[in-house]
Order: sequence, then C-alpha cells, then structure tokens
Amino acid sequence: MVNDILKFLREKEYVSGEVLANKLSISRVAIWKQIQKLKDTGYKIISDQNLGYCLVSRPDLLLPQEIQRGLSTSYIGKEIYYFPELKSTNTIAKKKALHRAEGINEGTLIIAERQSAGKGRLGREWFSPAGGIWFSIIIYPQLSPFYISRITLMTAVAAVKAIKICTQIKSQIKWPNDILINEKKVCGILTEMSAELDIINWIVVGIGINANIDIQDFPKNIQENTISLKETIGKEISRVKLAQTFLQEFEKYYEKLKRKEFPSILKEWKLHSHTLRKKIRVDTGERIITGEAMDINESGVLILKNEDGKLIEIISGTII
Ligand code: BTN
Repeated sequence: MVNDILKFLREKEYVSGEVLANKLSISRVAIWKQIQKLKDTGYKIISDQNLGYCLVSRPDLLLPQEIQRGLSTSYIGKEIYYFPELKSTNTIAKKKALHRAEGINEGTLIIAERQSAGKGRLGREWFSPAGGIWFSIIIYPQLSPFYISRITLMTAVAAVKAIKICTQIKSQIKWPNDILINEKKVCGILTEMSAELDIINWIVVGIGINANIDIQDFPKNIQENTISLKETIGKEISRVKLAQTFLQEFEKYYEKLKRKEFPSILKEWKLHSHTLRKKIRVDTGERIITGEAMDINESGVLILKNEDGKLIEIISGTII
C-alpha cells in the first residue's frame, strides 16, 4: 500500500486524497493513515487543502521501497527485511535461512541502519553505526561446499565494482575479502555457511561498507586502519544507489559462478588485488606462514611461496 501511494506521489507534484483513494480503492481516511505512516518513517509530505499531498523529500534510509525502486535484479533483494537497529544482520539471516521451505527465498536481504553487535571475521567486533551499509544476503547455491571461498572472492569483486561505479573510487582487495582504499579498510565481508558433505544448505554473505561515517566516530583503536567513502570523496554518497549497484553486481557475478565461470571472476579479482606479488604473513589459525603471495588458484586458494621456495596452498587465513 505504502509503495503504491509513493508511486503516485512521485509521478505528480500534488495528488489529492480523493484521487489516491479512488485509484487504490480505499477510503480517504485510510490514505491519510498511510501518509502519516510515511511521515513517521521520515518522508516529508506536505498537504494542501485544495491540491492534496505533495512528496517533498525522502529520508536518507535504506528502506526496502527505496532499494527496490529501480533495482534491476531478478532475485537478489526482491525480499527485504529492514530494521532500524539489530544486533547483527548475519545472525538474523542465519535464523531466516533455516526457513527456506516457508518462503525465505534465494536472494533475501536482511538490512539494518545500525548494528549493536556487528560481527567481523574470526569473532571480531564490527563497528556499525548509522551511516554505513550493513546487510546480509541469503543464498542456496547448488554447489559443493568447496565453493565457499569462491563466493567470498566473487563478493569482493562485486563490492569493488559497485564502489567504482557509484563513487569513481578505485579500491583494492586484500585477500581474502577486505576492501581497501589507500591501504585502509572500507568494506568487510563475512561469509557463513551450513553444509553437509557435498551439499550446501545455505550461505549468508554479510557485507559491511563504511559509507557515510566520519572517521572520528570510529573507535580510536581502528581509526588508523579504517576509512569511509565519505572521508575519501569529501561528501556523502547515496547509500541507496550503492546498495542497489552492489546487489546488481552481486547477482551478475553469482550467476557467472553458477555457470562455472569462476576463472573470469578470478581474473577481475587479480586486477584489483592488493595482495599478489607482495611479501605477507598469514595467520591460518594453526600457524603463521611468511612468504610471497604468488597466485590465487582456480579454487580460490592462495598460493604462497615460503622462505625455502616451497609453494604452500592456503585455503583460509588472515594477513597480519
Ligand atoms: C570482516 O572484515 O571482518 C567482516 C565484516 C563483515 C561485517 C558485516 S556488516 C553486515 C553483516 N552483519 C554482521 O554482523 N557482519 C556483517
């Protein structure tokens, strides 16, 4: 209902309550109630006794109706659960993913304006104040669980592309999934999965983008290594546009992955790589390995040449 009213308000400068009521086959009182709801959400709507209602401005929020307007995906973001505040979108997405049979479809999005307990990789905290883009996508790929690292790499490429399209900023990917601008982190990806031996039950891909956040608002201990898009270009960006562009890129690359075209995605990953050909130290959780990052192979595994010249395959880890 709210979407229909918004559609009419966007089309003309003023629309009378009577016209809206007729078009939508509801009473004028019902229209008035919906208008109040929109105002409560942050839409600025003025009313004139003779002319009717006029939409003056939209709130700067990642509301489903704003994201879905003009979203050109087939299934990613077609269903959105929106929350002004949540502990973590990944936690809610994982709970929802268990209810696939009850209509939680592939591409469902959980989005929050802020997270009170945002999660980073390796159990770290992820600072998520208002102004960022924090969301999780639920997917059910019919692929082997070994594809998980390819999904993360593909998500990183989608993020770099979306940032470039919306802001012109060239960002880089630090293996496996940190997006950097000027060596500082602007975006993180947390991929979580439930799988059996050879099938994936669900994957939740959580993405956090430091969009319109002032650096001094970040905790002191991460300020040095963190950056936001607003800080980089010196003005606020359209979070709705960036979220939409990311979702479109994500679907495009996910479709490629499903068609087993990972090599072409990997090519793009390498073009944006911050890691390859550098001497790095990787914490695999079991040990720390030092060496030169030689390549990412076609399974998404990092190939490191250690100090003895031996090639080592690293499936997951963190560069320290
Ligand atoms: C990392 O780089 O450590 C991963 C950060 C991932 C953060 C996002 S924000 C949306 C989603 N919900 C979470 O709790 N975490 C991810």
